[in-house]
Amino acid sequence: MQIRVALMPALAGDVSEAVCIVIDALRATTVIATLFERNCPIVYVAASHEAARQFARAKGYVLCGETEGYRVPDFDYGNSPVEFDKLDFTDRPVVLSTTNGTKATAIVAEARRVYLGAATNRMAVALAAWRTALEAGADIVIVCSGTNDQFTLEDATVAGLYVEALVGQSGAWEMPEQADSAIAARRLWQTEPNLLRGLMEGTHARTLADRGFGEDVGYCTAIDVLSHVPTLVHEVDSHTVAAPVVLIR
Ligand code: MLT
Repeated sequence: MQIRVALMPALAGDVSEAVCIVIDALRATTVIATLFERNCPIVYVAASHEAARQFARAKGYVLCGETEGYRVPDFDYGNSPVEFDKLDFTDRPVVLSTTNGTKATAIVAEARRVYLGAATNRMAVALAAWRTALEAGADIVIVCSGTNDQFTLEDATVAGLYVEALVGQSGAWEMPEQADSAIAARRLWQTEPNLLRGLMEGTHARTLADRGFGEDVGYCTAIDVLSHVPTLVHEVDSHTVAAPVVLIR
């Protein structure tokens, strides 16, 4: 088994045989983890606002998403995990469209298995990915969503946190091979294990704080506090996993 980090979605390459973990630490994958924690039965992720709008309006589902961090004006909610953490989504499917996180998911959707991970549910997602990869004899590719096709500090740092957990799973005889990208991400994380302090050095965290979402950054940097494992599935299979995520194109 090899662990590799795609520091941007464009670097993911051929993932058809791999197990992928998509990370958009600020904030899309953290939001998805929170929605399941708040009893959401299913999250639909859309690769565009228009696709999300049409689907959600046709089905009567809750429509969420952001542009430049702010709620899209005609959407029900934005992309704030702190806001979602106060709401109850029992029997309320959610449709989510964000600038980078949901698009990154679309890019690797054909992988053998796709999980959506954040710092908050890191250990639960890492363990699920580890087990699936071990069973299938597959590699694990951690896919950083980045921002507008650029590298972002927050996703690479949280990717390092995942590498740390995955390497920790292995006994001496089954130590996975770490690609240079995985070693780099792990070292990045190790340079500042205080995730909030580390991420606040990055552009997106500072921008979010400037736009009034500083509390979200704090929320997104809590490690291993949530336990759901958001898993990409086709709609017909959505009953087979506990936290189903379905892609709308
Ligand atoms: C994204 O998908 O680009 C992010 O989740 C943006 C945000 O912070 O809302």
